[in-house]
Amino acid sequence: MKTTVAALALATPMVAAAQAAALFQGADLALGEKLIAENKCTACHIRRVGGDGSAIYRPQGRINTAGALRGMVDYCSTELNLGLFPEEVTAVAAVLDRDHYRFEHKR
Ligand code: HEC
Repeated sequence: MKTTVAALALATPMVAAAQAAALFQGADLALGEKLIAENKCTACHIRRVGGDGSAIYRPQGRINTAGALRGMVDYCSTELNLGLFPEEVTAVAAVLDRDHYRFEHKR
């Protein structure tokens, strides 16, 4: 966690970025991973795009900020009737950010 925060501070000195960084800060990544597995997110995405399903996540597409990513997960979870709590939505979005979008988890 400490290194992530330090890397973010170096990589994203802008105020807007700093605010966005707070979105996934302290998110429960283990919970997010569990929810993604439980809700078969990947299985459905694979049916759509093939491969390992990750091609569905397009960081260069319309989902281009951490806030938009979280919003999309929120929308999906509502559409799919997953009944996720706000902190669970954040946890799922934080895992997708770490593994695919990297708005906050800079390499
Ligand atoms: C019933 C099938 C299905 C399930 C289940 C599903 N998705 Fe999706 N998801 C889709 C489809 C189809 C798209 C692509 C929509 C489009 O064409 O823009 C998508 C797109 C997305 C995107 C946007 C990708 C991008 O960059 O534009 C995110 C984020 C996402 N899904 C997250 C999730 C998460 C998290 C879960 C599990 C909680 C989940 N999805 C479960 C079908 C599904």
